[in-house]
Parts: sequence; structure tokens; C-alpha cells
Amino acid sequence: MILVTGGAGFIGGNFVLDWLANPRAEGIVNLDKLTYAGNLATLSSLEHDIRHQFVYGDIGDTILVTKLLQEYQPRAIVNFAAESHVDRSIHGPAEFIQTNIVGTFNLLECAREYWSNLNADMKKSFRFHHVSTDEVYGSLTPSASAFSETNPYEPNSPYSASKAASDHLVRAWFHTYGFPVVTTNCSNNYGPYHFPEKLIPLAILNALNGKPLPIYGDGQQIRDWLYVGDHCSAIREVLSRGKLGETYNIGGWNEKANIDVVKAICLILNELKPRSDGRSYVEQITFVRDRPGHDRRYAIDASKVERELGWRPAKTFDTGIRKTVQWYLDNPVWIEGVVSGTYRDWLQKQYS
Ligand code: NAD
Ligand code: DAU
Repeated sequence: MILVTGGAGFIGGNFVLDWLANPRAEGIVNLDKLTYAGNLATLSSLEHDIRHQFVYGDIGDTILVTKLLQEYQPRAIVNFAAESHVDRSIHGPAEFIQTNIVGTFNLLECAREYWSNLNADMKKSFRFHHVSTDEVYGSLTPSASAFSETNPYEPNSPYSASKAASDHLVRAWFHTYGFPVVTTNCSNNYGPYHFPEKLIPLAILNALNGKPLPIYGDGQQIRDWLYVGDHCSAIREVLSRGKLGETYNIGGWNEKANIDVVKAICLILNELKPRSDGRSYVEQITFVRDRPGHDRRYAIDASKVERELGWRPAKTFDTGIRKTVQWYLDNPVWIEGVVSGTYRDWLQKQYS
């Protein structure tokens, strides 16, 4: 088994589905607190797959995590669990401190205790893979080189500060205790099962529903977009062959201004699902108040992971975004569950 945390979220859910698509893959214990961002509908195709064990709970729960480790004896932990939305962290940072920092600390401590009691073979092969973000490096000027693994940490939002803190804990557990960790710092993901509070799914769904497409500030902020399936393949590579104690930057070599991302979505929708009035979705674009402290540019230099592990993204932005828009058109049931809130009924049914 491997233990995945946050596996009902966007990237964790894609990771679990991709992993178990391999019939020879080890099973997964999936620990998730099912916050508003956790959605079991994403995993509905695994309902009868005995290789997937879902556990409802918090990475900050020492008793539960210890029990799971004893019971399932995983050979690795992949930690996706986090509060992940920058805007929410600005309105209410407390949950970000709790899950991203205190929760990661608890997971590290439980895992270290478990690992220290493993037999020599299992101890040697055990891995703790921490999934992190490029936002820890701060903001780049237009002409600056892309972030490499040696860039100093300069987080600017409560979210990125909490992720930076968790990265530092993971690093310290390696240097102090010899605990076998690897960390990946990835750029902006997009793809299926993305919660529609983030730019790309929000733009697709608002366009289809005739709503404004909100662009913060001047829309010239740049992000480096990576298709989620490529992020999952990078994590698999780093988990199996990454060097202990190392960090690897993962990115798509796809720098795009926000306004261009939204226009690209509009053009694809014009083609795949034209508006009934024959006008362009571009007309729905609306400039709104900027995000406080909005980072201007992120860009990832992903040459280390390519040089050392041979990983490169398979998708370009053009192929990935078209596939993503098509996925949202093809999956009205998943979308309806999210939009109406019925995806949270399971919690009520199970735990009321
Ligand atoms: P998400 O918000 O979609 O999912 C997070 C998941 O974690 C949810 O299922 C939620 O229920 C679960 N969770 C939250 N708190 C928990 C807790 N205390 N215990 C157990 N489970 C908990 O996030 P995502 O976009 O899938 O991101 C996953 C990870 O990847 C995060 O660590 C994030 O920082 C990192 N990351 C995200 C991106 C991106 O573009 N989305 C890019 C780079 C790195
Ligand atoms: O860089 C990796 C990070 O990417 C991850 O660590 C985060 O978990 C993930 O949420 C994402 O953060 P961003 O803040 O970059 O993603 P978001 O989709 O919220 O915003 C993308 C850009 O679009 C950002 O510059 C803000 C802008 N934006 C966003 C929304 C929601 C808008 O202009 N309008 C919007 O309505």
C-alpha cells in the first residue's frame, strides 16, 4: 500500500485515478478530511475497487494517522492534503496554518515514529513525498530567470507562507532525523475535476452559464500552466527515483498571462459550444478588483527533473486546455454535483 493524503481533491484525486489505472499498481489508502474541496464523486469509478481504501479524517489527527500507519504498513506517503486557494487564505488564513503547517508537522511526526520501527528493508525503501508549490519562491519580474530549486523562499500570501513553512519542516526532518523525504514544487495545474473557484474551471463554467469572466487587475499576471496528468506522472517518477532530501521543480514550460488563458478558453468554447446568440464568449470577460498582494509572475525551470529523472510534460497548453474544456462539456453530472453542493451529501449521510 501507499498512503495518499488529500486524495479526494483535484490533484490528489487525479493521482489516485492515474495510479490505479495501472492494474499492477499497489493499493492506496486515501486519507481526506473532505473539506469543501474534497469530492468523492471524483473517485466514484473506484467504488468497487478493493485496491482503494477511503478514510475520512484529518492529517492533524495523531491517533488516526498512527492507527492507519500500523494497520496498512504503507511503503510511502504522498502528502497532497492542504488548503490550496490563495483568495481563501487572504479572507481566512487560520485553516491554512492548521492544515498546511500543523497538519504536515503531525503527519511527519507520526510517519517518523512508524518509520523508525520498520525493519531494515522497509526502512530503506520508505518515502515521504511532500507535494508543494512554486508560490513559495515569490514573484518574478518580467525578465528574471525562471525559479530553480536554489531560489530563495519569498512567499507573499498566507497560502504560500504556510506551504513554505511545511516545506521547511519536511527539509528539517530529513537533515535532523534522516527521515526519507522528497519534495516537489509545482506550477499551476489544470485539468479534469478542478474545483470551480480556480481560474480555469471558473472561466469555463461561467462562460457556459452566461456569467462574467472575472479577470483580476490588468490580467497580465503570468502563471506557468501544467496539465494535471503530467503533474501526476512527475510525482510517480520522483517518488520512485528521486534522491532523498532533494526538491524537484515541476512545470509545464507554458508561461501565459491570465487574460490570454481566458481568451483561449473562450475561443475553444466558440468552436465546441457556440453561444446561442452567435457572439463570442470573449464578450463576457470583465476586469475586476485585483487580488491583494497579487504575485505578478511565476515560471518554473524544470530542467533538474528532466536531467536527473528524464521527466518532461507530455501535453502542451494547447492540447491540455482543449482536453480540459472538452472534459467539462462531457461531465455535466460531476459539475452539477459541485455547483449544487450535493457532492457534500455523502458526509451528511455517513456521519450525521
Ligand atoms: P484541493 O484543494 O483541490 O484538494 C485538497 C484536498 O485536501 C481536499 O480533498 C481536502 O478535503 C483535503 N484536505 C484538506 N485539509 C485536510 C486535512 N487537514 N486532512 C486531510 N485532508 C485534507 O488542492 P489541490 O489543488 O488538489 O492541491 C493538492 C496539493 O498540491 C496541495 O498541497 C497544493 O498546495 C499543491 N499544489 C497545487 C497546485 C495547483 O495548481 N492546484 C500546484 C502546485 C501544488
Ligand atoms: O502556482 C501554483 C498554485 O496555483 C497552487 O499552489 C495553488 O494551490 C493554486 O490554487 C494556484 O494558485 P493561483 O492563485 O495561481 O490560482 P488561481 O486559479 O486562483 O488563479 C490563477 C491566476 O488567475 C492568478 O493570477 C489569479 C487570477 N484570477 C483568479 C481567479 C479565481 C483571476 O484573474 N480571476 C479569478 O476569478
